[in-house]
Amino acid sequence: MKNIVVLISGSGTNLQALIDAQLQDRLGCRISAVISNRPGVKGLQRAEQAGIPALVLDHTGFDSREAFDAALMTLIDDHDPALVVLAGFMRILTADFTRHYLGRMLNIHPSLLPKYPGLHTHQRALDAGDREHGATIHFVTPELDDGPNVIQAIVPVIAGDDAASLAQRVQVQEHIIYPQAVAWFTSGRLQMQDNHCLLDGEPLPPSGQVVDAR
Ligand code: GAR
Repeated sequence: MKNIVVLISGSGTNLQALIDAQLQDRLGCRISAVISNRPGVKGLQRAEQAGIPALVLDHTGFDSREAFDAALMTLIDDHDPALVVLAGFMRILTADFTRHYLGRMLNIHPSLLPKYPGLHTHQRALDAGDREHGATIHFVTPELDDGPNVIQAIVPVIAGDDAASLAQRVQVQEHIIYPQAVAWFTSGRLQMQDNHCLLDGEPLPPSGQVVDAR
């Protein structure tokens, strides 16, 4: 069974979805470690409760982004993962780090990328008057929130939504699509080639596979 390492910074509800999928034999791999750049976050408790090594590498103890990323790489590689899974890992990554894991690192982002890279995605979708919003799983490349899309879940924006209600609707879908993408990768069905995604050897569209939850 392949190993994956999950990186978090906070509450870890996506991590929980991955843990639940592993317990239900839907993940096709074993979470061999969870690493947080912030001590004391809820996601670390979730890992401990599931009997998964929960490690902290506090970025505030490093002088530079390069030094932190180098230490993080060493820690991750100790677990020999087939895939690195960013699940609410709120750090900008160095190019060296992303190159090291090119084609074997996934991220989840709370928008329909390429729309709204960066922060405050739900409020930005509301401010723009968007009728639809969602989340994207993508391979990580050196540019922030870029890299080929694997799956995109679309949810409706409903009259009266605020950022919190919209985020909640998006997260329901996040928890479905992330275990799916990880299972595809670890079973060998999903690959990144020449900055494109292949699923079962066939190219995915630029949006990735679409889950329409409107
Ligand atoms: C998720 O909603 C994820 O989409 C977002 O952080 C949240 C983490 O929640 N990621 C980003 O914004 C990355 N740019 P969680 O800790 O409960 O899984």
